[in-house]
Amino acid sequence: MTPTIELLKAHRSIRKFENRPIAKDLLHELIQAGQAVASSSFLQAATIIRISDSAKRASLAALANHQPYIESAAEFLVFCADMNRASRCCDWYDAKANTGFTEQFIIATVDASLVAQNIVVAAESVGLGICYIGALRNNPAEVSSLLELPQNTYPVFGLCLGWPDQDPEIKPRLPLEVVLRENVYGGDVDLDRLSDYDDVIRAYYQTRTANQKSQSWSEQMAGMLSKESRPHMLGFLKMRGFLQK
Ligand SMILES: Cc1cc2nc3c(=O)[nH]c(=O)nc-3n(C[C@H](O)[C@H](O)[C@H](O)COP(=O)(O)O)c2cc1C
Repeated sequence: MTPTIELLKAHRSIRKFENRPIAKDLLHELIQAGQAVASSSFLQAATIIRISDSAKRASLAALANHQPYIESAAEFLVFCADMNRASRCCDWYDAKANTGFTEQFIIATVDASLVAQNIVVAAESVGLGICYIGALRNNPAEVSSLLELPQNTYPVFGLCLGWPDQDPEIKPRLPLEVVLRENVYGGDVDLDRLSDYDDVIRAYYQTRTANQKSQSWSEQMAGMLSKESRPHMLGFLKMRGFLQK
């Protein structure tokens, strides 16, 4: 294994941070490492908003289920899928921006996610900890107006970055055989393997240092998928100019 692979396999989300800043040069280095990621059609359809204003940070935390690490992290970044920049290029050439395609929504969402994950890996490589914040999508319209986002952009998620003040266990992932298939999907999910994984996850939850509980992975997923999943997102994304066609 290489140090990079070891680093990737050592990932765990960090939710408690030291009260210590991240030097601006380092932050910029991390962002540039993020920008270096591949980008569909070279659209570079991601914009990152650094939240340095503490009142704004507090408002975002309130909009995202009051998760305390949004405020305690040294940095909080909001990753926006951004088709606005490319459509402004059309204006330069008197071309009509043909926005609103579902494909463009996918491209911009993937771009924002790839940039973020490159930043995550770069950050973890220097000892920083991270936690993604999807809960910004609990109130995406309010987040968008707080950040003054233009049409054809939306906040995909936030990212806490800081020096870790905890050392949580690594959360075991699904067995390789469950997620890797050859040539075709090939029949039903391997329930025996899933059941073995349930035992692994139950043991992990029961023995981890913080926030212990007794739950298997399949129980967790059944609970998740039998609930509604942010049903406001479709209307919100349409309002922002996405998913029109
Ligand atoms: C897009 C995305 C959104 C997430 N949103 C949240 C969140 O709002 N709050 C939180 O505490 N963790 C959040 N997480 C972290 C996941 O819960 C975590 O990655 C998952 O449980 C696996 O644990 P690990 O990262 O420690 O391996 C999010 C992760 C991703 C990728």
